[in-house]
Amino acid sequence: MSHHYELFDPLLSPTEADAMVDLCQRFGRYGMYSQEASAAEIGQGLAQRHDAVMNFVRSGGRFGRKEPLHVLAARTNYFREEYAYGDTVRFAGIEPFLTHAGFRAAAHAVHGRPVIEPAIVYANILVPGQELAVHTDVPEFRGANRKRFPQWLMVVMHHSRLFDAWRMPIVTGVAWFSACQGGEFVFYPEGASGAPVVLPAKRNTAILLDTDSVFHGVDRVASDGEMVLLRPGMHLVHDGGGRWSIRDSDTVVARYAWDELRFSVSWKAYCFADTAERDAWRAHSDDLSLDAILDTLVDDLRARGRLTGDRPAPTDLALQLIDEYIQFPAAA
Ligand SMILES: [Fe+2]
Repeated sequence: MSHHYELFDPLLSPTEADAMVDLCQRFGRYGMYSQEASAAEIGQGLAQRHDAVMNFVRSGGRFGRKEPLHVLAARTNYFREEYAYGDTVRFAGIEPFLTHAGFRAAAHAVHGRPVIEPAIVYANILVPGQELAVHTDVPEFRGANRKRFPQWLMVVMHHSRLFDAWRMPIVTGVAWFSACQGGEFVFYPEGASGAPVVLPAKRNTAILLDTDSVFHGVDRVASDGEMVLLRPGMHLVHDGGGRWSIRDSDTVVARYAWDELRFSVSWKAYCFADTAERDAWRAHSDDLSLDAILDTLVDDLRARGRLTGDRPAPTDLALQLIDEYIQFPAAA
């Protein structure tokens, strides 16, 4: 199974690319993107992305490095903020990126669906020593999104292919505007059993692909020293003149120059077949329920011969679903 993707080099004019760096600095303060445990009854207490976390811990990442859990956590607790949501600009200056014509055309090409509706633009910033575990993104279905159900469940749903009729195909454009060492974007366009493609995070370049279907991650951002032990609640702050610091309340725990940071901006958009499909999504006229989702998955486990007898307790069922349907690429 081969997945279409498109590359952009350059993505923006030199002036617009400089403006993205300026925008990053003007925004000024970035919170940590960390996952709260899921409170849903199905899989209660599991991390939202239990699938990706467990694979990272088991495999030690793409290069099979074994480290203590708190170090692995620090490596993957990166910084994120939103610049736009839907069509709404949350931070002035993001407009050329939000409305990029090349992204729209590539989105149409990836899914063959012409009605493109921007969903979100956000920044990810990784500091030296950080990396992003290999994963697929959280997909969305009519009636099933991250506001209603645990994230791992929607990832299971997509990999099972049992809910394709309800899926909302999404694309992601990822662009880089920093000049760090390392931090390559790694993806598997031929599927989990195919070879990875390694893309340098080169300034003012981008890729657009279906990150809900294509496994991807970020290799480690170059670091000379020990991993700073980042914890949820810390912030990355621009101190002026391209100097940045990580702060735990008012305490500075690390300082960086701009060219040590990995700054990427992501654009996500829904791709609808036609306006009728978009309207059904907006009106919730054909939504899935949690009972229907779980019944379908359990029936499929039985049909595969993986389940006999009673349905397991919710957390056991959750772990079985993750193991059964989400087949990660092997470590290098
Ligand atoms: Fe991702």
